[in-house]
Amino acid sequence: MASGLTNVSLNTGRVMPIIGFGTFQIVGKGLIYRVIDAALASGYRSFDTAAVYGNEEDIGQALKELLPKYGLTRDDIFLTSKLAPNDHGKNSAERAARKSLSHLGVTYLDMYLVHWPGVAGIPMESSHNLKLRTETWNALSELYEKGILRGIGVSNYTVKHLEELFAHCKIKPAVNQVEFHPHFQQKELLKFCTTHGIHLQAYSSLGGSYNHSLVDDPVVTSIARKLGKGSAQVLLRWAVQQGVGVIPKSVTPNRIAENIKLNFSLSEEDMTALGSIKKVEKYAWNPARVA
Ligand SMILES: NC(=O)c1ccc[n+]([C@@H]2O[C@H](COP(=O)([O-])OP(=O)(O)OC[C@H]3O[C@@H](n4cnc5c(N)ncnc54)[C@H](OP(=O)(O)O)[C@@H]3O)[C@@H](O)[C@H]2O)c1
Repeated sequence: MASGLTNVSLNTGRVMPIIGFGTFQIVGKGLIYRVIDAALASGYRSFDTAAVYGNEEDIGQALKELLPKYGLTRDDIFLTSKLAPNDHGKNSAERAARKSLSHLGVTYLDMYLVHWPGVAGIPMESSHNLKLRTETWNALSELYEKGILRGIGVSNYTVKHLEELFAHCKIKPAVNQVEFHPHFQQKELLKFCTTHGIHLQAYSSLGGSYNHSLVDDPVVTSIARKLGKGSAQVLLRWAVQQGVGVIPKSVTPNRIAENIKLNFSLSEEDMTALGSIKKVEKYAWNPARVA
């Protein structure tokens, strides 16, 4: 296995690689094949997709064709997908999960996340959001108990959304995948998830695709220069060193390889400097107003 690739123990009793590969905005059969090939060659064994990314079928096909090249089988891979915001509710949720399974060409998913606490087409403030996402969770819990979903979790849930979920759920979420990086540190949410045995997984660790202010942040670049690492490696290591999973996205082979090489340590002083960055900026969608 590639250097730095360790597993986290989930509350399901199963393990998940702490470093996975993000696939948002990677579309097109040829590109997906090349990128998955580069990711497998670099040592990634965990892949993050979602119904809304529109790439499940091509990822499933690429994995099917490429796994034998690396002497791997389906069981060596940790596959995560997500329920789209327009698939919430009793009737839609099971159908959505089964559609993702079929698109990916697999009989089980390692992790299936509720992508967003809100329901598409319903105002964020509406109490219907809570009603429908509760139905969603109950439907996914049944699929978890059947073993079709080997882990279920949430994404973009705030402490409020999690507390409401705890009030009725039979199965606790194993993962909460949220935006988390030095410009959006989510200290309270991390503490809450840790206390409740939920693994926090970071997305947009590098700030996403549309801006460079995180990789160009002077605190990040100066630590990277000092250590002879890339800014991306510093940002990813910052999360991993706190026990937070990462799923960097790249279509660039040398970056794909670089992003998984995280077997170095940031000193306490460097962690403090990164944790004390004053700039607060959220680069992706904000669930704070979803009722
Ligand atoms: N649950 C959610 O709501 C949610 C939301 C957003 C993302 N996600 C998941 O999280 C994954 C990661 O987040 P993200 O896609 O927003 O973006 P990200 O991983 O923070 O950043 C991706 C951007 O960083 C660039 N990059 C990658 N490696 C680099 C390196 N070593 N040095 C410099 N730049 C580098 C990429 O460029 P190139 O590709 O051109 O190399 C791309 O522009 C997604 O792909 C998706 O799976 C989930």
